[in-house]
Parts: sequence; C-alpha cells; structure tokens
Amino acid sequence: MREKIDLAVFPVAGFGTRFLPATKASPKEMLPIVDKPLIQYAVEEAYAAGIRTMIFVTGRNKWSITEHFDIAYELENELRVRGKAEFLQVVEGVKPRDMQVVFIRQELALGLGHAVLCASPVVGERAFAVLLADDLLVCEQKPVLKQMVEVFEAQQQAVLGVMEVPREQTQRYGIITAGAQINQRLCTVQAVVEKPAPNVAPSTQAVIGRYILPGQVMQILQHTPEGTGGEIQLTDAIAQLIEQQTVLAYRFEGKRYDCGDKLGYLQANVEMGLKHPQLGAQFAQYLQELSR
Ligand code: UTP
Repeated sequence: MREKIDLAVFPVAGFGTRFLPATKASPKEMLPIVDKPLIQYAVEEAYAAGIRTMIFVTGRNKWSITEHFDIAYELENELRVRGKAEFLQVVEGVKPRDMQVVFIRQELALGLGHAVLCASPVVGERAFAVLLADDLLVCEQKPVLKQMVEVFEAQQQAVLGVMEVPREQTQRYGIITAGAQINQRLCTVQAVVEKPAPNVAPSTQAVIGRYILPGQVMQILQHTPEGTGGEIQLTDAIAQLIEQQTVLAYRFEGKRYDCGDKLGYLQANVEMGLKHPQLGAQFAQYLQELSR
C-alpha cells in the first residue's frame, strides 16, 4: 500500500537556552518573525504540504502555543462586533477548520528523539513529518515540506532535509555520509552522525529541521540510549533505521534561517520584513536611510 503523509509532529519542548532571557518564561517557537510566530510558519508549511493533523509535543512554559492554536472566541467576537473584518480573518486563519491539533506533554526534556517518541500514541505505525519550527525555511516556488512529501510519495522511503554548511559548523548538526546519487537533489544516506567535530565530520551535508519518517522509527526510539549531550537523539534512531531500510537525503530548494540563534533570527526578521506586503517598501527605505 502506498502511504501518504497526513501527520506532522512539532517538538516544542526544548529550553531554548541560546535565546535566553527571551525564552525564560515564553517559548522560542512563539518568537515572531515580523508579525507571525515561528510555529505558525511551520504549521502553515505543513498545511501547504497537505497535512491536516498537527501534533505538538510541548513542555513547561509552552501554554501560549496551545492558546495560539485554539479558537479565541472572545477575541473573535470582539473583532466581529467592532467590524474589524481584516483582523478577524487573520485570527481565524491561524487554525483552518479542516486542521486538527493535538497536544502531548513531554514531561522531561530528554532530547529531540524522546520528544518525537512522545507522539507515538497518536502517530501509531504511520509515516509522519517532523518540523523544527526554529528552522524557518522559505521557498516561494514550493514550500520545502511539500517538496519532501512529493519525494516520499514517489519513493516511499524516509526523507531527511539537508543542506551544505561551513565545515566549522558541523558540530551543530547531524551530518550525513551520502550514498548513491539518485538525481541532482536526492541521494541515499549511508550513515548519519550527531554533531561531529569539523576534523572528523564525514561531510558538510547537514540535516536541517525537516524529516519524513516511517512508523518503524518509533519502535527504534523506544530502545535508543542517550547519545550526544546526554540526550535521546533522533539522529541515533535514524542511524539505526538506515540499517533496516533506505533513507534518502533531499537537498531542498529554498532559504533557511536558523531562528534558534540570535543572528539568524535577526536576519530572518530583516529579510521577511523587506518582503512583507504592507511594510516592505517602507522598511526598505528605513534601512537605506540607516545605512547612509
Ligand atoms: P534544540 O537543540 O534547538 O534545543 O532542539 P532547544 O532547547 O530548543 O534550544 P537551545 O539549543 O537550548 O537553545 C531542537 C528542537 O527539539 C525540541 C526543541 O523544542 C527544538 O524544536 N526539543 C528538544 C524537544 O521538544 N524536547 C527536548 O527534550 C529537546
């Protein structure tokens, strides 16, 4: 049977230490890029890829994510009464009617692999997508997850989103060893290793926060021991999956902003600000004046 992807898991239970103090009491994923929180960009990307069930794995201090994707009855009513149709549309658009949201608690932040495992009562044995909202991926032609879902639906194999990174940064990522080249953007993965030092990294192809994984990965995660940083790593489970079945690496089309990092976050705000339909022109003028 050919599988389709209708589930997306959003692990949002991390501490966001690189963004302190902003993340002391509120989640990194609610940081806005111009006027929209990071998590909403990721959910919109999944929705555009045809996914309708969004599973959030949350932790302490993450209640605002739950609120954001709930129906804000009082606010909507107030906007309706005041005739603010434009804002009402914005608020209603956060959760389209045909989209389901599920919240699961990760009681202890034991790592990304553990966060994904927490979603297994909902995911069951089906294939699913994982999106890390602090990786903001922008592609005007086709959203990145849609590109990856198309690869999965054609190949019926796990797909990791990858991109080239500078060698001095390999320690921040899962790094792959490429196997057979399938086309310009697609290859098989021979091995993957979490956060290797630049001098031992097998390549400079890094796994970015988009994955399409088969249900089997949940069984592997149940037995995955702590890895790098004492955390249960998704990368280690994928390394085991490679021993059982083909895993693909897809060099996606689009631009990535590392919004878990302060500089990447500022860059995303500037570039998305310049593209903003209402603010773009004014903002460009402001930047020009500032740089004079
Ligand atoms: P990061 O490695 O970016 O960790 O996690 P973090 O806590 O969010 O941020 P820093 O590094 O401390 O600044 C990658 C993703 O995995 C989630 C995070 O929320 C983030 O989306 N995560 C990580 C969990 O959901 N649970 C965990 O136990 C760890």
